Amino acid sequence: MKDLMNTLEDNDEIESIEIDLLLDGIFRRYGYDFRNYASASIRRRIWKFAKLEKLGTISAVQEAVLHDSTIMDRFVLSLTVNVTSMFRDPAFFQALRTEVVPILKTYPMIRIWDAGCATGEEAYSMAIVLKEEGIYDRCRIYATDMNEDVLRKAKAGIFPLSHMKEYTDNYIQSGGKNSFSEYYTAKYDYAIINQELRQNIIFAQHNLVTDKSFNEFNLVLIRNVLIYFNEDLRTKVLDLLHESMASFGILALGKRESLKFSKYEKAYEELDSVMKLYKRCA
Ligand SMILES: C[S@@+](CC[C@H](N)C(=O)[O-])C[C@H]1O[C@@H](n2cnc3c(N)ncnc32)[C@H](O)[C@@H]1O
Repeated sequence: MKDLMNTLEDNDEIESIEIDLLLDGIFRRYGYDFRNYASASIRRRIWKFAKLEKLGTISAVQEAVLHDSTIMDRFVLSLTVNVTSMFRDPAFFQALRTEVVPILKTYPMIRIWDAGCATGEEAYSMAIVLKEEGIYDRCRIYATDMNEDVLRKAKAGIFPLSHMKEYTDNYIQSGGKNSFSEYYTAKYDYAIINQELRQNIIFAQHNLVTDKSFNEFNLVLIRNVLIYFNEDLRTKVLDLLHESMASFGILALGKRESLKFSKYEKAYEELDSVMKLYKRCA
């Protein structure tokens, strides 16, 4: 029994060394820094990728990704969770409309950062709310993600028509004021988002771990991104967001994320504790 325990501990240690070497190697070779992502989730995803690529060990994954950048592209996609939808958590978009928009309306120009925007559905949903509230013309939405593949889809603004039923329900629940179908054109099996919604959105690559602050924003959305980071990385990214936040700017986190117990707990007032909306105190 003791022998078995020792073998299992050895295996765990070898695996953790292999993961460290793999992530270090990727950082040195490609500049992507996954070293402080939450370890249980990163470990699961590495193994999932290894199985898909029929690679038996994490060291074999390392050899493959370091020597072949096309395998690396697939690896990046499989390490990050890109799940998103239009009007995801409809109650959040309702709170955006009723609690955040009135504050934004007081500004002549409004800069918004949608960090970790994935395939863009969140940014387009926000554009719809801002348009219906009459302030979209004054807004610039910078929608960023580290992943070029998802950004390509975001820029195209073409989504499967089969998703529109769910998105329409979400839109209605979020307090949408029009008919959702006015915002896209159906063509074959796809819905193409209207040009008027795209005009004030800038999609660009930005890595929250390795890139710097690039502007000052009145509203920052970073929903369902921080959960994938460990505590050190969450703090580092919150530093970057704080640096990028205008006075009295608003921060929107995901349902399972919070500023509680972070170093910024006192720097922000809770606007809505359920929807995780915070307002910078000064
Ligand atoms: C689950 S999606 C969230 C999408 C959207 N915000 C939402 O809530 O529906 C997480 C996104 O964060 C992005 N991401 C992960 N690490 C990142 C990093 N270091 N810098 C920028 N984006 C990152 C992923 O590529 C992915 O598209």
